[in-house]
Amino acid sequence: MYRVSVSALKPGMRIGRSVVDVTGRILLTAGTVLKPSYIQYLKQRGIPAVYVINELAPDVSLPEVVSPETRTRLAAELNRAVAELREVMATRGTASLRSWANAQLSRVREAVAGVVDEILRQPQAVFHLQEIRTHDDYTLQHSVDVCILSVLIGVSLGYDERQLRDLGLGAVLHDIGKVTIPEAILKKPGPLTAEERAEIQKHTTRGFEILMHCGEFSFHVAHVAYQHHERWCGGGYPRGLKGPEIHELARVVAVADVYDAMTSDRVYRPGYPPERALRNMLEVVPDWFDPRVLAALVENVAIYPVGTLVELNTGETAVVTGVVKGQAARPRVRVLRDPAGRPVREPWEVDLAADPTYWIVRTFAEVPPALAPELQEAVGMMD
Ligand SMILES: [Fe+2]
Repeated sequence: MYRVSVSALKPGMRIGRSVVDVTGRILLTAGTVLKPSYIQYLKQRGIPAVYVINELAPDVSLPEVVSPETRTRLAAELNRAVAELREVMATRGTASLRSWANAQLSRVREAVAGVVDEILRQPQAVFHLQEIRTHDDYTLQHSVDVCILSVLIGVSLGYDERQLRDLGLGAVLHDIGKVTIPEAILKKPGPLTAEERAEIQKHTTRGFEILMHCGEFSFHVAHVAYQHHERWCGGGYPRGLKGPEIHELARVVAVADVYDAMTSDRVYRPGYPPERALRNMLEVVPDWFDPRVLAALVENVAIYPVGTLVELNTGETAVVTGVVKGQAARPRVRVLRDPAGRPVREPWEVDLAADPTYWIVRTFAEVPPALAPELQEAVGMMD
């Protein structure tokens, strides 16, 4: 399975993963064969990309670190809580935040506990690919993915279950202060003016104030909202804290937030592949992050997610079929084509972690060359 942007979709391709909206409603079911009208529908809904089955290895499915049900439940609870919060802020003010927290945030907290439980049950699982987001629900799905990634990092850092729940709740609420920022600024497609940027940056302090008014919610959770844009080397906002002055949970969420933002599709650019996002974080801006947290991120994300088509040093083309924690750069792969590009008669698997004579040279972008010409022929027949 691999991600294809909607503009590159062709009739005849098969959807590998159901496309759902924030309420959990299925827009297109996994296995659906695309027709021109479906592609049009995806464009109308503002969906930037979908996962498509690789027809050369259709049995390779994406392992989920958290089940779609648990993920959807968290997204739906967060969606409801945020909608209610907007209403509270607009009509009743901060005095009503405590009752909002009791009614709504307690449900979000339970959904986060579900995420933590599932992650603890799969100690070898790594993060492959995030949920596809429409432009409208970007912040919501981003918050859910930041929660999952943060909890994975927290497990590597040795956190206990209570700490993981605080971390997960802080992560899923990290941008909650954005409810107070005008939509016109949040969704502005072009570059921001200095005033607009200053306005957006207020989401940290506003989020902190909201969560501190909620009473029962811990101090730690509010500090994630407050400090997730601080940088290890200083120079972040709102206070320009440095190193250990920054709350540890906020340092974890800062790493998950930047990684997820880099790898996701936006209106103005497609997401970076995991490999490039990690390289940026490790080489271009490494001093933004707590080095322990950054190392834990590397341990927990699949550099070559399952379903990625890669070229090996031998010139053969292979598809990634399995990734194990700690061996992200050396996954298990299935060889599909010989160095001349001909399909191999019997595809065979090699575990790169166990065989040092093989390594990955590069990945194929979105539409792999393997799709031509036989699949295009099949597509032609279905038009
Ligand atoms: Fe933020």
